Amino acid sequence: MLKSISPGGYNITSGTFSPPVFVEEKVREIREFVGSSKAAIATSGGVDSTTCAVLAHRALGGRLICFFMDTGFMREGEVQEVSEMLRSLGLPLRVLSVKDRFMEALKGKKDAEEKRIAFRETFYKVLSKEARKEGCEVLIQGTIAPDWIETSGGIKTQHNVLEQLGFDTVKRYGFRLLEPLLELYKDQVREVARYLGVRFEASERQPFPGPGLLVRCIGEVREDKLKVLRGATLAVERALGSLKPTPNQYFAAVVEDERVVASPAVERAVQEILPGGKVEYFKCRATGVKGDNRAYGKIAVVSGGEVETERLFTLPERIIHEDGEVVRAVYKLGESTVGVIGSGGVRRERYAVLVRAVETRDFMTAKPYRVPMEVLKRLCQELLKICGVSSVFYDITSKPPATVEYE
Ligand code: XMP
Repeated sequence: MLKSISPGGYNITSGTFSPPVFVEEKVREIREFVGSSKAAIATSGGVDSTTCAVLAHRALGGRLICFFMDTGFMREGEVQEVSEMLRSLGLPLRVLSVKDRFMEALKGKKDAEEKRIAFRETFYKVLSKEARKEGCEVLIQGTIAPDWIETSGGIKTQHNVLEQLGFDTVKRYGFRLLEPLLELYKDQVREVARYLGVRFEASERQPFPGPGLLVRCIGEVREDKLKVLRGATLAVERALGSLKPTPNQYFAAVVEDERVVASPAVERAVQEILPGGKVEYFKCRATGVKGDNRAYGKIAVVSGGEVETERLFTLPERIIHEDGEVVRAVYKLGESTVGVIGSGGVRRERYAVLVRAVETRDFMTAKPYRVPMEVLKRLCQELLKICGVSSVFYDITSKPPATVEYE
């Protein structure tokens, strides 16, 4: 059952959102809720959880402990960088190195929702055990409006959405839950962050999902696949982070490069827009949105042909018109010609890297960012040098029908 959300004395819809008023009200609310006990907050270094931690610290001072979990799904160097950033904000930090717990819980799981649920349960089991050891009775977390709207709407199970799904957090995990940012959208969180003096890098940082690289490692997670994804993430962030204007979110995803044939109707539709082009599907599925519901659908893989770039972006809609199970389309930028000598003889590199860049205001809808072709081609050459990468694709789908993330 959906818990009703109190707007808390300010009107966000009439455009009168005021960070100072918001902070004052929330500081009071946090103090009342926590009383004389202690509270824990799990921070990932992202905008929402960092802003929430600084807000809660302002209210509780030394009665707040921040936990930063190294789940194994962070980007290259991120554990170190985030720990330093959180400490520089004066937050009392405990870093938990719990990679093995997550890998164990995710072993053999391929389905996106199963992976998200396994992540959530491991996350809260670890967190509540550590928080109780420190005497914390309350968990504060930085859930924001799109998180619970999409989870309650059945689009995906966001790991930090609990009460809105009807969970009794005291019975299930042993803590009372407080979510001070629940009514806010991302741009408002950034306003609050700037008001609180959260360092520029954190408040302007592009969003990074709580389950991290897990939702970009499409299908089953394995160490070698994660390694490819970490390298690809670094290359994509470097190449696209300097574009002006900067895309609102840009990242890499990785999937086994295993494909199946598309129907003749879909092939014909692709030919109409992209003469000489070819279409297949990845074996793995990805998350999308259909109406108000989550769809776990096919990824169409388009390659070849000659087309004026803007026409490419009309492909997803045309393909979906022929096959309603498709939720996104990606366009091939290049492939590896390298064979690898393995025990079974020469085999091809096995992972496809997908480059995703979006323009969006509130992340509820998004358009693919028009990355210049020459930038994509250079990036593709760099990605193909990563050991294990067989081919590179550019995601040309809006949200809807796709989501921003792949799972
Ligand atoms: P989707 O994939 O739902 O993404 O279109 C919209 C925005 O939400 C972020 N996102 C998440 N953030 N935990 C988070 O903290 C999650 O489980 C999660 N899933 C998606 C995503 O990166 C994008 O900015």
